[in-house]
Amino acid sequence: MQKLYVRGQKNLSGTLQISGSKNATLPILAASILSEKKIIIKNIPLVKDVITMSELLKYIGSDIKLNYKKKTIYINNKNKNLKTIAPYSFVKTMRAGVVILGPLLARFGRAKVSLPGGCAIGSRPVNLHLFGLKKLGARINIKNGYISAKVKNGLIGNIINFPSISVGATENLIIAASLAKGTTILKNCACEPEIKNLTNFLEKMGINITWTNKREIKIVGKKNLKPVTHTIMFDRIEAGTFIIAGALTGKNLKIKGLDTKVIKNELNILKKMGVKFKIRNKEIQVLTSKNIKPITIKTEPYPGFPTDLQAQIMVLMTRANGISKIKENIFENRFMHVPELIRMGAKIKILNNSASIYGPKDLNGAEVMATDLRASVSLVLAGLIAKNKTVINRVYHLDRGYENIEKKLRKCKAKISRF
Ligand code: UD1
Repeated sequence: MQKLYVRGQKNLSGTLQISGSKNATLPILAASILSEKKIIIKNIPLVKDVITMSELLKYIGSDIKLNYKKKTIYINNKNKNLKTIAPYSFVKTMRAGVVILGPLLARFGRAKVSLPGGCAIGSRPVNLHLFGLKKLGARINIKNGYISAKVKNGLIGNIINFPSISVGATENLIIAASLAKGTTILKNCACEPEIKNLTNFLEKMGINITWTNKREIKIVGKKNLKPVTHTIMFDRIEAGTFIIAGALTGKNLKIKGLDTKVIKNELNILKKMGVKFKIRNKEIQVLTSKNIKPITIKTEPYPGFPTDLQAQIMVLMTRANGISKIKENIFENRFMHVPELIRMGAKIKILNNSASIYGPKDLNGAEVMATDLRASVSLVLAGLIAKNKTVINRVYHLDRGYENIEKKLRKCKAKISRF
C-alpha cells in the first residue's frame, strides 16, 4: 500500500492551479444517463471517484470516453440500451454512486442500486433519496443490500419538501424530475454551488429548471433533450485546502482558477483568524500569516462552513494563539483525524460533536494513518508544518478527491513524495 512522506517546515511559494470539482462532476456524469444526445464535459478532475463513476457508466453500457490530456469526457448514448444495475463493487468505494438511481429510474422505469453502507465518517443513509423518488411515483424495495426501484408509466412531478437538507438527495431528485411528466417543486433543498453547476448543465440540455428561492427549485420535465457542452466548476474544497496550506507555511503562494465569491464565507473566517491574502480576479495570493487567532465555527450546509474543510482548518487552529472550537453538525463521526493530530503533538479535546483545539502547539512528524478523504489531507497539512518527517499510510483515500496533490505541492517547493 502506498505511503506519502512529507518533510515539514518548508515554505510554500509559487503558483497552484485548482482542478475541476469532484462533487460537481459526479452528479453531472450521472445525469448524462438521461440523454441520447452528445455530451461533452470539460475540466474533469482526474481523481479516483470520477474514474470510478465513469467506469460505472461504462459498466451499464454508456459510450463514454475520457481524454486524460484534455481532461474532457465525451458521451454519446444514441440508441443505447443501458443496464439498470449499479453493483456493490462500484458503490462501496464511491458512495455518490447512489445518485444514478434517479436518472436510471427516470429514463428506464427501473433501477437496482447497491446500498452505500457506512464509511469512516458515519452511516450513509439514503432515506431522503427514497422519500423523494417515492413522491414521484416510484415503488421501492430493499433486499439483499440493493435498492430496487420501479415505476410503471414514468415518474410524475410532485411537490417534495425534504425533511432535512441533503446534497445527494437534492441532486438525485433534480435529475429524476428532469424527465418526469409535469412539474416538480423541490423544497428545503441543498444549495451547494456544485448543485447549481448541475442545474446549469440540465438547463443547457433543455430542461426548464429554476431556483425559485434559496432552497426551492422548480423543474418542468422534458423528454427530448439537446446536445450539451459543459465546463465543471472549480473544486472549492481543494481551493480551501490550499489556501489553508498557504496560511500555514506560505511565503507568497498563489492559487489560481477559482471564484472567490463562491468561498466568501470561508475567506471571511480565515481573515478573522488573521490569514493574510490578496484577491485578484480568479486568483488568490496567500501571504505569510504569523499571528493566527483562535475562532469558534460550526459546519453547516452551504453557505455555512463546509464539513469537507473541517479537518483542514483544525490544523490551522493548532497554530492559533488560544482555544478554538469546532462543532461538526453534518456527519456523526468526522473527527477521525484528531487522534492522529494528537500523536503529532496537537492538544485537542472532543466532547460529543464538538472539538476544542488548544493552540499554539508545535507539531512533530510521526507515522500516521489516513482514514477518509479529508482527514488524509489534514495529515498532509500537518506534515507540512511539523518538525522532521511525517509518513501517511493509506493514501488511497487522498486519491479519491485530490488530483496530483504531491505534484502540485512539490511545484510549490514542498518536500513530499510517494512510495
Ligand atoms: C455530499 C458531498 C460530501 C459532503 C456532503 C456534505 C458529494 C459527492 N459528496 O455528500 O463531500 O461532505 O455532501 O456537504 O457531493 N442524510 C440522511 N439521509 C439521506 C441522505 C443524507 O440522513 O438520505 C444525512 C447524512 O447522513 C448527513 C447529512 O444528511 O448527516 C448530509 O448528507 P448529504 O448532504 O446527503 O451528503 P452527501 O450527498 O452524501
